[in-house]
Amino acid sequence: MVSRKISPKQWRVDLKRMEERVERLSLLSQLGQILNSTLEHYEVRRRAIEAATRLMKAEVGSLLLIEEENHLLRFEVALGDKEKTLKAIALNMGEGIAGWVAQHGEPLIVNDPQKDPRFFKEMDGRTDFRTQNLIAVPVKVKEKVVGVLEAINKQDGEEFTQDDLSLFASLANQVAIALDNARLYQELEEMFFQTAESLAEAIEKRDPYTGGHTQRVTQYSQAIVGRLHLTPSEMKGLKIASVLHDIGKIGIEDRILKKSEKLNPEEFEVIKRHPNMGAEIIEHVRQLRGIAAAVKFHHEQMNGLGYPDGKKGEEIPILAKIVAVADAYDAMTTDRPYRRAISKEAAIEELKRCSGTQLDGEVVEAFVKAYEKGEI
Ligand SMILES: [Fe+2]
Repeated sequence: MVSRKISPKQWRVDLKRMEERVERLSLLSQLGQILNSTLEHYEVRRRAIEAATRLMKAEVGSLLLIEEENHLLRFEVALGDKEKTLKAIALNMGEGIAGWVAQHGEPLIVNDPQKDPRFFKEMDGRTDFRTQNLIAVPVKVKEKVVGVLEAINKQDGEEFTQDDLSLFASLANQVAIALDNARLYQELEEMFFQTAESLAEAIEKRDPYTGGHTQRVTQYSQAIVGRLHLTPSEMKGLKIASVLHDIGKIGIEDRILKKSEKLNPEEFEVIKRHPNMGAEIIEHVRQLRGIAAAVKFHHEQMNGLGYPDGKKGEEIPILAKIVAVADAYDAMTTDRPYRRAISKEAAIEELKRCSGTQLDGEVVEAFVKAYEKGEI
């Protein structure tokens, strides 16, 4: 048996290389976990680019996704002020390095792009960026290429290696899984929202006088939401709460719901049950429990004179206050059997008049601003 002697120097070099490999593998696993810990499509894309940059020790990372409808590759890049320019650039399949990778479904290392005929030189020109070297791998979901992950300009003037390539391909697999999960989740959310919409429409079909009310309330609340510093989850909740705010009317008898004359006090007492009934209905759905309060309190008033509980001011959840303003504006600007609609201007004046007493001042202010900007 021949034993090969390793010099202490070589041994140290090997050990260092091994340590580096372990370190990068552990970084890969860490990045994979970060990638897969979100289901938001935008967030997955952002994290994928960050991961590509870190793992490849590159100056920038980029992700290009194939647009299904026209087979164009479009940049999804976090490059600060360059982001807009890059987003406007779309590559055809086969065009540029990324286009080649997408078309062939194979990875590529290009250590001298200026000499590579496949390199899309226009890109550097448009972004004031100089590509020294790059590595690109296909992102495949169930064997189908959905995009390309790239890392550009290895730091410290080094070149990309085969070791980099196998590591980068593993990252691309994780990105593919995360993107697909986010897509499925998004589809599920859309389906959920559409189900909620059809449920709301079912009630509207019973009440001929409020046609399109739910849609308009949703549209108004969405127009003001950006001015109210809500969290992303509150924003999502608001959309569903606006759609489902009157769901409780499903339990109100036709004789009252469809009555064309003004309601008498007893009938009005029955109508006043709809917020509670609505909250009870949606509490059955675990994912909707968070918005039950918005539905329950959308007829409360800041001065405590609303219903069902006579809650005051800050006791009323913000989502309920927003629905209340959108609801009031729509009620005033649409014809009802017992009264005519008033003009938009008059309705805005009325909202201002009720600001702070019936309606929340901040929400009314946001609504008025949106109206003035022509968003309502
Ligand atoms: Fe209502």
